[in-house]
Amino acid sequence: MTVTRRWVVRLLWILGALVLGFVIYAWRSPIAPVDPPAAGTFDMATIQRGAQLAALGDCATCHTASGGETFAGGRAVATPFGTIYSTNITPDPSSGIGRWSQEAFQRAMREGVNRAGDHLYPAFPYDHFTLVDDRDNAALYAFIMTRQPVQGRTPDNQLSFPLNMRFIIAGWKLFFLRKGPYEQDSNHNAEWNRGAYLANGIGHCGACHTPRNSLGAEIRSQHFGGGEAEGWHAYAINADSRALEAWKAEDLHMYLSNGWHDRHGDAHGPMAAVSQNLSSVPDADVKAIASYVATVIGNQPREKIRPEGASGNDTGAAIYAAACASCHDGSRPLPFGGVKLMLSTAVTGESATNLINVVLEGLRPPEGTTGAIMPGFSSTLTDGQLESLVAYIRSNLGSQLPWTDIESSVREARSRTHD
Ligand code: HEC
Ligand code: HEC
Ligand code: HEC
Repeated sequence: MTVTRRWVVRLLWILGALVLGFVIYAWRSPIAPVDPPAAGTFDMATIQRGAQLAALGDCATCHTASGGETFAGGRAVATPFGTIYSTNITPDPSSGIGRWSQEAFQRAMREGVNRAGDHLYPAFPYDHFTLVDDRDNAALYAFIMTRQPVQGRTPDNQLSFPLNMRFIIAGWKLFFLRKGPYEQDSNHNAEWNRGAYLANGIGHCGACHTPRNSLGAEIRSQHFGGGEAEGWHAYAINADSRALEAWKAEDLHMYLSNGWHDRHGDAHGPMAAVSQNLSSVPDADVKAIASYVATVIGNQPREKIRPEGASGNDTGAAIYAAACASCHDGSRPLPFGGVKLMLSTAVTGESATNLINVVLEGLRPPEGTTGAIMPGFSSTLTDGQLESLVAYIRSNLGSQLPWTDIESSVREARSRTHD
């Protein structure tokens, strides 16, 4: 053997050992199946607390396909890496999690590993759920295990090699998963800690509101700095918040539990389901979240910038006067009148996406409720008209520097609403 060949062989050995080491590192043992817990195993108070935690965690929102049975899974979660389907978490013994012990359930929540020992994709936000404490996990387990079992397989994930190999996720976790449960921060009082525990844990607010790096992990140094969610922009809810009137704890409390605030507007896109879920949890929990988030946002006054030449957009002005003003500047009482748009972060915020989405799709009240309604304009406005309107609203009503990505945002929003 030549010297170089010998080195190549040695390198291959080292590489092989590294791969083997990683595979061993990634390995998790299966947890033995159990018989589904008998009726009467859990007390009512525990089940009830579990229901509230499930609402805080949006479990049903993600684990129910549109038109499908609650918790039976099959909802597509789009990621930059491919599509991951939520699983059936009803207590069905064959296709659901009916044969999972509480230990197996808690391991999934805390470490993102299923009963068989496979790593789960962080599309299941266990990087937040890891903070949930043992007691709350037990309550969640009691609630889930007492739901109606539904038999039904969910579609296979659409991920390409090598991401379709689950042991790879162990590498992701090594860098990005900080295992819980939550630890109290003694610099803050009990309510703040309660809020941080709920918001960053079961509530997983950062899953949408924190920007992600190229590997899909939240950037911790930009906690709540604004992120993307299902074609919508989840605004910054830290010191970078661009809301014209700084959010206070009372405002957040009202907005989160009613999905609406008279000086901020309403929750739409994926936030509509979040606030809908929060409306069913105890007020003390929402209050704690609100007071925690208010401290993250802080209370600095917003700057109003009136850009030069803001009025020179006749097309936008004319469309606004004809199509929008009657509701948004009229005397129709709130909530049906529509807020003054200068108060909405859709207008003052960091991205044009939500304003464009709302104008195209309009706003329907959530299923089973009555609420504010605005018509959609997707068939009445051309792309060019929509761009002029959005630019007009931004500079004249929002008094902000122009967005630079209006054209591409309109194109993206159109392609989404067409498929
Ligand atoms: C943002 C969407 C989302 C939310 C919210 C969510 N899940 Fe999931 N969950 C998923 C996805 C996607 C998977 C599948 C992950 C995979 O295939 O690796 C999953 C997997 C699971 C699993 C593993 C099941 C199995 O068969 O492997 C459990 C258990 C689970 N979720 C429970 C919950 C509970 C309890 C909640 C609420 C506290 C919840 N999930 C909230 C998306 C979500
Ligand atoms: C599934 C994604 C998602 C989750 C989870 C989520 N949000 Fe949102 N949130 C959004 C989106 C998208 C918007 C913007 C749309 C809108 O204005 O309604 C938003 C808007 C908001 C706003 C309004 C900000 C403004 O300036 O108008 C607040 C406040 C907020 N979210 C707080 C929270 C809190 C607190 C949590 C956790 C309990 C949370 N969100 C969880 C997606 C999410
Ligand atoms: C029939 C009355 C009506 C018309 C016409 C209408 N809106 Fe609305 N709009 C509403 C109502 C009601 C809401 C929901 C309550 C709220 O958020 O103010 C709303 C919400 C909005 C929001 C979200 C505000 C927020 O953050 O909650 C935006 C942005 C918006 N409208 C823009 C427009 C634009 C631009 C037009 C014209 C193309 C328009 N609306 C036409 C009634 C209307």
